[in-house]
Amino acid sequence: MSGPSNYVPKSGFEKWLDTRLPVVRFAYDTMIDFPTPKNLNYWYTFGGILAVCLATQIITGIVLAMHYVPHIDYAFNSVERIMRDVNYGWLIRNIHMVGASMFFLAVYIHMFRGLYYGSYKAPREVLWGLGVIIFLLMIITAFMGYVLPWGQMSFWGATVITNLVGAVPFVGEPIVTWLWGGYSVDNATLNRFFALHYLLPFVIAGMVVLHIWALHVPGNNNPTGVEVQDVKAETVPFHPYYTIKDGFAISVFLMIFAGFVFFAPNVLGHTDNYIPANPMVTPAHIVPEWYLLPFYAILRAIDFNILFIDAKFGGVLFMMGSILILLALPWLDTSKIKSMRYRPVAKLCWILFAVNFMVLGLCGAMPAEAPWTHISKICTFFYFAYFVIILPVLGVVEKPMTPPASIADSIKPHAGPRDSGQAIPVPAE
Ligand code: HEM
Repeated sequence: MSGPSNYVPKSGFEKWLDTRLPVVRFAYDTMIDFPTPKNLNYWYTFGGILAVCLATQIITGIVLAMHYVPHIDYAFNSVERIMRDVNYGWLIRNIHMVGASMFFLAVYIHMFRGLYYGSYKAPREVLWGLGVIIFLLMIITAFMGYVLPWGQMSFWGATVITNLVGAVPFVGEPIVTWLWGGYSVDNATLNRFFALHYLLPFVIAGMVVLHIWALHVPGNNNPTGVEVQDVKAETVPFHPYYTIKDGFAISVFLMIFAGFVFFAPNVLGHTDNYIPANPMVTPAHIVPEWYLLPFYAILRAIDFNILFIDAKFGGVLFMMGSILILLALPWLDTSKIKSMRYRPVAKLCWILFAVNFMVLGLCGAMPAEAPWTHISKICTFFYFAYFVIILPVLGVVEKPMTPPASIADSIKPHAGPRDSGQAIPVPAE
């Protein structure tokens, strides 16, 4: 798919540069001429939307960092000052705060799209794996960012989550002390979280470059899951076809984003984070941001010892495992058919998996008591069963429908009166 370059340098300068550092050729081949399947739907615009989200977070984050003070005595007030006194500080902070939620909303849609169309399968395993690493980095970055305003949820969320590392046998305790830079979540912790929260988005940006590179070698998958066979008949150049389509989707996404920024910036957050951190007062319910709730539910679902593994460490293992298992997915799904369009049973299981993930999110938001503890155990079981039982077994036993022979086949106009030579019926008055 990546194929030979069609770039022809026009001006004398372009010719000169092309023989020295062919950046223009690179940009032309990857962003203008890149052959893209004709049949991509709107679910394929979320990669572009994610790139916009990352850029938005980096730009607003840099401006916020100019006014934020990473010290436990000043952090909370410096954020309030940004909201009240800094010119358009409220806007920049609202965009950054809501932006985190929008980023995760988009990444979940992007990932579930990949799960549905089997985009993780060969030859896109590396592309998928890089995505999983990006997702992990996003979680770590968001977690550290939430600590910075130094509100009650910042402090207690950081305390609960960093304490989990202490569950690792033998080395856990010294690692927690090392992470904190002391014997509790304190100024040193806030400082290093700020440093890392600033750094990690650039690491994510680097990983995104690799992600797109790994996309451009095999080319896009598409809703049929059938690979491109005839580049001429089945693809169009990325520009203008997909720049326009992505541009439209990005505009709609930004309108929804703006709706939250201007009319409900706090609706997705927790009110307790507007109370300054107080190590002497524990909030009634310590909950992470909405986008981390499903993983929090998995962590809490393991409240019993498993053989010699105690409950706390078991929870950590399952929580980490729930993300890392995605790395093995290309090899766990044994089906030869990529797209679930042609796998009716797998499609049903995918729907159940998506619902199960949302129920896990709900369990994460609820207090750790019955019936939520029971529901989260069942949902955790289904989460893992989807990867280690359902997908491996279904690939062997399911009778899939026959996918189209090619993309060209799938986009042929349906045989209607025009094709069959019959007269087109005129609608009655
Ligand atoms: C900052 C985060 C991310 C950015 C900016 C990003 C960007 C992109 C872009 C631009 C595309 C091509 C357009 C599209 O297919 O939507 C793409 C494709 C893809 N991404 Fe991501 N991505 C991100 C995160 C992830 C994550 C977390 C995963 C999975 C765990 C993932 C898996 C994939 C896969 C499998 C494809 C190929 C889809 C196909 O061709 O069917 N990406 N990504």
